[in-house]
Amino acid sequence: MTRKSQPVMAIDVGTHKVCVVIGSVGLAGGVEVLGVGYQASSGLRKGSVVNIHEAFPVIRRAVRQAEEMAETHIDEAMVGVTGRHVKSQNLMTVWEHRDPDVPVSALGLEEVLEQSYMIPIETGQTLLHAIPRSYVLDDQPRIRYPVGMFAQTMQVETHLITGNQSQVSNLVDAVERAGVKVQSLVLEPIASSEAVTTADERELGCVLVDVGGGTSDLAIFKDGSIWHTAVIPIGGDNFTTDLSIGLKTPVQNAETFKVTLGHALPDQVREDDTYQLPYSGSDDMHQVSRRHAAQLLYERAAELVRYTALHIKQANLPAPPAAGVILTGGASTLSGLLDVASERLPGPVRIGYPQGLSGRTEALRGPQFATVTGILMWAARHRKPKQWHEEGLTGLRKLFKRLAASKEPEFILRHPQEFSHNGFHGEAVKANT
Ligand SMILES: Nc1ncnc2c1ncn2[C@@H]1O[C@H](COP(=O)(O)OP(=O)(O)OP(=O)(O)O)[C@@H](O)[C@H]1O
Ligand SMILES: [Mg+2]
Repeated sequence: MTRKSQPVMAIDVGTHKVCVVIGSVGLAGGVEVLGVGYQASSGLRKGSVVNIHEAFPVIRRAVRQAEEMAETHIDEAMVGVTGRHVKSQNLMTVWEHRDPDVPVSALGLEEVLEQSYMIPIETGQTLLHAIPRSYVLDDQPRIRYPVGMFAQTMQVETHLITGNQSQVSNLVDAVERAGVKVQSLVLEPIASSEAVTTADERELGCVLVDVGGGTSDLAIFKDGSIWHTAVIPIGGDNFTTDLSIGLKTPVQNAETFKVTLGHALPDQVREDDTYQLPYSGSDDMHQVSRRHAAQLLYERAAELVRYTALHIKQANLPAPPAAGVILTGGASTLSGLLDVASERLPGPVRIGYPQGLSGRTEALRGPQFATVTGILMWAARHRKPKQWHEEGLTGLRKLFKRLAASKEPEFILRHPQEFSHNGFHGEAVKANT
């Protein structure tokens, strides 16, 4: 029998559904699904908690369901975060190597990266990820991993992802009220890409767009690492609302119509294809044209694709993403959306289905499960993730204690800068320069 580590839990608190997956990580890194919980969402909108009293019981039900199926109890989970409040930026820091005759050490690099967590961020935002994007050693750009190389200076380009402090706290609180400690948070498009893109695609350059209910989450990869992230405030709900308004029918009828008969290419729908739908606020029925509905869906799809193209442009990639665009999330399954995207976006476009898990995956095959399966895979890859609660403080205290107690730091920030914490670290700390 293969030995397994402690089971891990992933929670996707989405606008449409709350999904919980429990998995066991094998020694070789493979993840076996043991339990799945699924509940329709309540109290959540566009990635944010809008009614905590509605949200936490739903999360609790999904957690219980997954635990019952897995026949185990889990205390803590890795949780996905997204929403309009999420912001990202790239930041370059320049470091002087104290002893250029000695190659860069793993500890030296770790110290530099840990200091990324002290970079001042906008007031009211909290740091979610600080991911090194690339290194420049002296004048040599695009270094992947500087350890073991000689350098007088090292520039580190870091991709910083922050979220609104209160909204992130509300999400953490909702999960914790459901009885699960939040071990760590992961940005949802980064998680989704774990499940639906390949290492080759991320290496060549690719764009992941998770079209959910409330938002579409975008992540661009280049040379194997994250290059750009963004949250587009358009999701499947906007398609539904457009149909509800345009076809003068209640939202629930519009949703069913969209899922069963919706198409984003009006030309693909017969002109005489008509259906009876109720009027909003009345029992009277009226005739609607499926082609008219397709026209409405096309316009929203084109807007989503325009936003995506804009973000690809803003990402300033050195070359177009050779591996193209991967659409995932529940709303990516809208008929014709793939064609609208293929016409206007660079490279090949495909729908991303979760891959790479074993065990009880039968309920997790659709693109709407890219995020939760990706969170699980992320949790497996980051076996010892930083703790949400103690992350900043203990990490930094340890770092400074080490720096003070032992030798001098290997790298010195070239432009001494005072860092202050306005994120979740909760305390002002000065850089050790
Ligand atoms: N066949 C389909 N055609 C069109 N839309 C669909 C189809 N199936 C599901 N959807 C849409 O997918 C959306 C839900 O997707 P998903 O489950 O990925 O959202 P979520 O993760 O809960 O939301 P978010 O990520 O925005 O918080 C809904 O808007 C739903 O109408
Ligand atoms: Mg989602």
